[in-house]
Amino acid sequence: MSEPDANDAIVVKGLRKSYKKLEVLKDVSFSVKRGTMLALLGPNGAGKSTTVKILSTLLPFNDGSVSVEGYDVATEADKVRSVIGLTGQSAAVDELLTGRENLVMMGRLYRLTKESAKARADELLEEFDLVKAADRPAKTYSGGMRRRLDLAVSLIAAPPIIFLDEPTTGLDPRSRIAMWESIRRLMERGTTILLTTQYLEEADQLADRIIVIDNGGVIAEGTAKELKSKVGKDRLELTFKNDKTLALAKAELGKAAAEVDNDHTLSVVIDDTNKDVKDILEKLSKKKIAIESLAVHKPTLDDVFLSLTGKKKQAEKAEEK
Ligand SMILES: Nc1ncnc2c1ncn2[C@@H]1O[C@H](COP(=O)(O)OP(=O)(O)OP(=O)(O)O)[C@@H](O)[C@H]1O
Ligand SMILES: [Mg+2]
Repeated sequence: MSEPDANDAIVVKGLRKSYKKLEVLKDVSFSVKRGTMLALLGPNGAGKSTTVKILSTLLPFNDGSVSVEGYDVATEADKVRSVIGLTGQSAAVDELLTGRENLVMMGRLYRLTKESAKARADELLEEFDLVKAADRPAKTYSGGMRRRLDLAVSLIAAPPIIFLDEPTTGLDPRSRIAMWESIRRLMERGTTILLTTQYLEEADQLADRIIVIDNGGVIAEGTAKELKSKVGKDRLELTFKNDKTLALAKAELGKAAAEVDNDHTLSVVIDDTNKDVKDILEKLSKKKIAIESLAVHKPTLDDVFLSLTGKKKQAEKAEEK
């Protein structure tokens, strides 16, 4: 845990939260540097949404301290609200209003004048590719359009800090990529972002740092690269045609090569990917040992998540049903 400093936009220390007898957060501490994105990962029910709600003043907590832009969430909730935007797991969009009306209404709620609320709504409709749909009721929007409107609504007051709770869950791959682009634009503008997601690739693609929470505490933190290097190294997997070539290759590569499965495949741990792969291939080629197929396996954030929590992601569970 790095020491909190003046560059931190969010500082959480010893956060504890129970719903009656259910203790969800036991001791959660982390900080987010201004202008960076932290991804908060954890299995279903780990307390990600709970954390986001506490940080955005929507939920009281039992113990610890939370500050956002230097404001204390417990005692300066109004100030905190003035510097944050929130896109929640359940959208805050009014179905009966049009996209434009939703934006203007939220702008008025943030005490913008009618004119500036309208101007800001136009800007956001443009930015989130909703100009054509602007004057249709939100209930006619597709899932992706709704999420974009939801994010746009949370940005009406151009907050320096934004909380995104599963912003792309349920979106098709194209809408997800469009959403990532919008999020990247926010990052380019220097917005501080706390993101939760069940798509680990999303955290991998977007976040500067990642923390994993489980059983009420932070069980890992670091960059995607750091977390991946903890679960294991890259591996080269070589598949051979038959027992004979497999045995020859094994003899040639020695102890470094471990046999995997029963399909004539050897797995070799590699360090400096290019050089090691080249060396191995040269060795085999010199002895004229033919390789049927080869693949380099790098640990993914999914591997990290599985090895840390022993749990599968929601998406995978759903697929198995
Ligand atoms: N209002 C509530 N009252 C009682 N228990 C709650 C309440 N809200 C959440 N919980 C419980 O607190 C735990 C954490 O919930 P939370 O929604 O924060 O998890 P999460 O990490 O966001 O999960 P998911 O990945 O499914 O979104 C869960 O066990 C949940 O059932
Ligand atoms: Mg949640």
